[in-house]
Amino acid sequence: MGVLQISLNLLSFSLSLLLLVDHHDIVINGEVIAGYKPAYQVTDHAALDLDQQLMTWLLEAQNLTQASLVYQKGAHSKSYAAITLQQTTGKINKNTAFVGTSIGGEPVTLYAYSDFEAGATELKLRYATSDIQSEYSFCQVGKNPEPVLHGCLTALGTVSLEGIQSAALPYTYNPETDNKNGRTLAGFSTGAEKKMGKCGPQCPYVDYAKYLNYFGEFDYGNQWIMAAFEKRETKFSMGNVDFRPYSQPALHKAIQVATLNMNVWMYVIREFEDALDDCNKGCASDQCNADKVNAWDEGIAFYTGSLEGDDGLGDGVLAYALADDLCKDFKTCGASGDVTTGLSYVNQEVFSLSDSAVELLMAEKCAETRFYVQEIVGLITVPLVQGLLRATYQSMYAEDEESRDMAKGEAAAFAASVVPILHNCSESDAAMVQEQLAYTSDQRDYVAIKQALERHYECMGITCTQVGGLWDPNINEYRKDAAACVTLDEETSSTSWQWAALGVGVGSAAMILLLAVLLMREEQKSLRLSRK
Ligand SMILES: *[C@@H]1O[C@H](CO)[C@@H](O)[C@H](O)[C@H]1NC(C)=O
Ligand SMILES: *[C@@H]1O[C@H](CO)[C@@H](O)[C@H](O)[C@H]1NC(C)=O
Repeated sequence: MGVLQISLNLLSFSLSLLLLVDHHDIVINGEVIAGYKPAYQVTDHAALDLDQQLMTWLLEAQNLTQASLVYQKGAHSKSYAAITLQQTTGKINKNTAFVGTSIGGEPVTLYAYSDFEAGATELKLRYATSDIQSEYSFCQVGKNPEPVLHGCLTALGTVSLEGIQSAALPYTYNPETDNKNGRTLAGFSTGAEKKMGKCGPQCPYVDYAKYLNYFGEFDYGNQWIMAAFEKRETKFSMGNVDFRPYSQPALHKAIQVATLNMNVWMYVIREFEDALDDCNKGCASDQCNADKVNAWDEGIAFYTGSLEGDDGLGDGVLAYALADDLCKDFKTCGASGDVTTGLSYVNQEVFSLSDSAVELLMAEKCAETRFYVQEIVGLITVPLVQGLLRATYQSMYAEDEESRDMAKGEAAAFAASVVPILHNCSESDAAMVQEQLAYTSDQRDYVAIKQALERHYECMGITCTQVGGLWDPNINEYRKDAAACVTLDEETSSTSWQWAALGVGVGSAAMILLLAVLLMREEQKSLRLSRK
């Protein structure tokens, strides 16, 4: 019944993939991001990683106040000028283009940030950005202690509607305080209620719902991070953290990990869901195509960031970099995910699945794209679990006290991104992991935590092979108690058939159950094959 239906769907899905034509009939505007070719310009989105980098630097410099401002107000992405016009004008529609002069003396193009009523004098104008990542914007102010100003509007000047020089509008503003950012690390969480929670009948989105369920707050990420910045307790329904006893290094590490793995990580998924929403709107127009592919491009930009470069070999600071860092310790790098060097298996798969997903989106195959989103969510969950395991291990066994302490903060932050998913599989295992990984906990049992997670890998959409084990390069073995687990599913497929044969003589109920499992496994295989 249900299972058969799924198999049939997958069959037509595989066939449809074979029939797809090359999708490069849209203009390639964007710079390549770690090998992915965005169809639209997302350089400004990718530059959000510069906020994460700057915040981290400020944390390392012990400047918690400024780090918090960069987190909340931004510095690099979606720069806009808040200007005051010296005279009134008619109604201005969102995205109306204006031209002014930059501090560096160049013409600068800006777009109305939103609609402005006739007579409005306080305008927000968003700076145009470049297709080229290294020069995406020369106005990076916000809460940047060392702002880049030469691409910003001059303090006193005029802006005119693009193409209509006669209608020059005089304005004033302060370039150092009135250049702000519309996209911030905090905004990914504070905007979640509207964008992931209450966005229509499809919301809350399935992955976001697990966190919403657990913490009981739409902006759980921002609440967690602000409590850390302010060294206080959180007020969630579950998963509460008390930051008061945290040492400074542990606190800084926790913040750095949480902004990435709570706020940005979930927003990446939101972009893929947004692409599906746009797809499901079912319009046949080109503009509709643009929306959904653009959303996917943005998801990749937020996953990877600008610092990775076009080949993905740069020093990034977002999820892409985390996956590549962890694969070295878990022996999950390389095309087969079993070596300690090179690109992570996770990233290779995410990018190859993304290429296929974009082709499906272009072909309006929305339901099929859903499988790819699920697969990608599973893949990007892997580094969260690896990070939790590594930080837990270090919090117990690192040689020096300082490293153990910092790892405690890190483990608590990873727990905040993993335990809500685990909670969706087992409340008791989730509660145990959460309790053991509290900063002040002295009851850490690595094997118990590892097994509590492993019991639910399938439920969490990940596998033992993907997660790997903590590898000790000095002795070429897994570290004690930290080896990769073995998924029953991956190891016993041949013997399962024998059991199935034996099962003929056994109760029919058990037999049906077994067949269902086997059919589902075939389903997974065909999904895997169809990618090739
Ligand atoms: C933090 O950074 C800001 C901006 O650079 C600076 O004004 C402030 O003095 C710094 N505070 C500390 C404690 O270093
Ligand atoms: C798991 O999460 C989904 C929503 O994402 C929810 O529908 C389901 O009830 C949850 N299951 C449990 C056991 O919490």
